[in-house]
Parts: sequence; structure tokens; C-alpha cells
Amino acid sequence: MRVVKVSLGERSYSILIGNRLLPRLGSECKKLGLGQRCAVITDSNVAAKFSKPALASLKAAGFDPVLITVPPGEKSKDLKIVQSCYDQLALHRLERKSFVVALGGGVVGDLAGFVAATYLRGVAFIQVPTTLLAQVDSSVGGKVGVNLKAGKNLVGAFYQPRIVLCDLDTLKTLPQREYRAGLAEVIKYGIIYDQALFRKLERDLPKLLKLDPNALATVVARCCAIKADVVGQDETESGLRAILNFGHTIGHAIEAISGYGNYLHGEAISIGQVAAAELSAALTGLPLGDVERVTNLFRESGLPTGIHLNSQQRAKLFDAMKLDKKVSAGEIKFVLAERIGKVLWGQKVPQDLIEQVLDSQAA
Ligand SMILES: NC(=O)c1ccc[n+]([C@@H]2O[C@H](COP(=O)([O-])OP(=O)(O)OC[C@H]3O[C@@H](n4cnc5c(N)ncnc54)[C@H](O)[C@@H]3O)[C@@H](O)[C@H]2O)c1
Ligand SMILES: [Zn+2]
Repeated sequence: MRVVKVSLGERSYSILIGNRLLPRLGSECKKLGLGQRCAVITDSNVAAKFSKPALASLKAAGFDPVLITVPPGEKSKDLKIVQSCYDQLALHRLERKSFVVALGGGVVGDLAGFVAATYLRGVAFIQVPTTLLAQVDSSVGGKVGVNLKAGKNLVGAFYQPRIVLCDLDTLKTLPQREYRAGLAEVIKYGIIYDQALFRKLERDLPKLLKLDPNALATVVARCCAIKADVVGQDETESGLRAILNFGHTIGHAIEAISGYGNYLHGEAISIGQVAAAELSAALTGLPLGDVERVTNLFRESGLPTGIHLNSQQRAKLFDAMKLDKKVSAGEIKFVLAERIGKVLWGQKVPQDLIEQVLDSQAA
């Protein structure tokens, strides 16, 4: 088992990464000195596979858990679902020392974290992420929240978990497309922060695609450590944390114009990162050989590296980019790479260059 410490003063916590961790949920919660009553929030896909061992482990450690199951998918990050979770917590008489366990992907983590942050002005929160994306990204950093009609993640909080258990065994049941989408965030960490990780990914990709326990544990732990390091330096996103958005300016816009459905997040940011690498070659000196390595790694991971858009869709894409949070005074700002492992944020990019890059990708 690997342990990654997230250092945030008195809100510091550990991320445990390895196999057979779900059966330890109860004993790990016990060590935290939490109250007896608790809730496990999950979605119906994950419940079918993992609610039994999760509840059994909590009960064996003396806890009294209630299971709250929400429908799978982004639509559950909704205030109506939050309300129904609150009602079930109240019915089960959770009190100040009680805790909420998020058992699932990023949707469940964001939802359950928001419920934990706000119920009784905050009860303890435990994360058991079961998608690769949630293990390397959404479960680290403390952002929790839900969506409004007006946009994603518009209501939320910064709320840190007390512990994160990344049980790599849970990834065995994850649909392959979801797993590959998670790899897009994994590759991102190599590009933005760690040349050695990028090289390791190039070398070990076949092992990762086969869920080799050792390769996977090392890589997930490294990704968590990188995110923890970045978040530790900039918890509330005033500077450095922006580098985590590499590939996300175009990626988010692709998700927005395709109506959050055609592309998984990881697929959209795969296209976005390849485009950002090409912009980097033009503006921040990323060697062309590195652009090629980046493109190849995404391709070999089974992820899309370009998108064909007609002129109407293209116009919509730019509108979406300008609506994104990373725009100030009408200028689109990007995270760009100087080399693999080193990026700069807040880089202004002219629209015609973005158009050129999109044209060359689609060709
Ligand atoms: N808080 C953050 O910092 C942060 C960062 C990145 C993304 N997010 C959020 O994360 C969400 C996306 O998360 P996601 O990609 O994990 O999606 P998800 O939670 O919707 O999970 C993807 C699908 O896989 C299923 N699933 C989950 N674990 C499984 C398993 N082990 N076996 C079989 N099926 C399983 C789910 O039911 C779902 O259908 C988005 O809402 C995004 O906004 C948050
Ligand atoms: Zn992302």
C-alpha cells in the first residue's frame, strides 16, 4: 500500500492507495474517532458492486451506516438530490460526530462532499473513489459541489476529506471507456509537472491498460502526490492550481458544445491537451518531438486527439471558450508547456492560432 499525505495544516489527511482497501473502510474510520451513525452515498451502478462490502466493513467496526443510492451520472449533481440526501441523513439521525462516505466516481464524490460540507454545518467526510478519474483527480483537493441549470459546479465549497481510500480493485469493474478517460488526467500530470512520470507512462502503458497492480499503484500515488503538492501550495486557486487546467480550456468547450454527453470529460481534454501542445510549440517553445510524444501517448491510450467541426460548431466552440472561467477581459488564456514536465499559466493565445491548430488536428 502507498500513502500520500496532503499537507493542509490541521486539515491534513492521508490518501491510501492499494488493493483490498475497501474491506478496511470500517477500521480506518474507527482510527479517526468518528461517531457511530454514518451514511454511505453511492450511485446505483457502484452500489450493485460495492455497497455490500462497504456496509459490512463499517458494521464490523461497530458503525451504524445508512445507504443512500442516487442515479448514476452527472444529473445527480443537483440540489434536489442534495435535498433528498439531507432528508435521509435526518431520518437516520446523523449528528455532529457522524460522517458521510462517498463511494463512487467524481459525481458521487462531489455530491456527497457537498452534502457533508453543509449538513449540520459540516460533518466528517470520507472518500472511497471508484473511478480512475476520481482516484487521481476529483477526490484530491477538496472541491465539492453540484450543478445549476446555468452551469457546472456553480454551487459548492472547499471541504477536505478526513481520509481517502483508493482501492485499485474497484477499477476492475469500471467500463474500459471510463478507465481510458481517466488516463487523460494521468497523462496531464506528466505533462504539467513530471517528465519522469511521462516517460514511465510511455513505457508502462500496456501494463496500465491491463491494470497491473504495481504499475497502477505507483502511477496513481504519483498523480495524487502531484495534485496534493499543487493544491497544498494554492488551496483556493489563486495561482499555481491553474496548471491543473492544462487542456481544459478547449476540453470544457468541447464538452459544452456537445451537450455533455458525446464526449466523456477525459476524451474532451485529450483533444484539448493535444491542441494545447500544438499551441505550446508555436508560443512557448515546446519541441515538435514532444508534441508528437504527447499525441502518441493519448492515441495509444485509445483517446481521441482531434475533432472535426463545421463552421457553425467552430463558432459555438469559441463562444463556449469565452464563457469559461479562464477568460478575463475577453482574452482566452491557456496553460502552455515549455517542455514536458514544465508549464506556464495565464498565456494569452490569439484566436486565429487556435483556429489553425484545430484545422490541423481535424485534417
Ligand atoms: N472535485 C474536483 O476537483 C473534480 C475534479 C474533476 C472532476 N470532477 C467531477 O467528477 C465528475 C466525473 O467523475 P467520473 O468521471 O468519476 O464520473 P462518474 O462518477 O459519473 O462515474 C462514471 C461512471 O462509472 C460508474 N462507476 C463508477 N465506479 C465504477 C466502478 N468501480 N465499476 C463500475 N462502474 C463504475 C458510475 O456509475 C458512472 O456511470 C464530474 O462531475 C466532474 O465535474 C470533480
Ligand atoms: Zn479534468
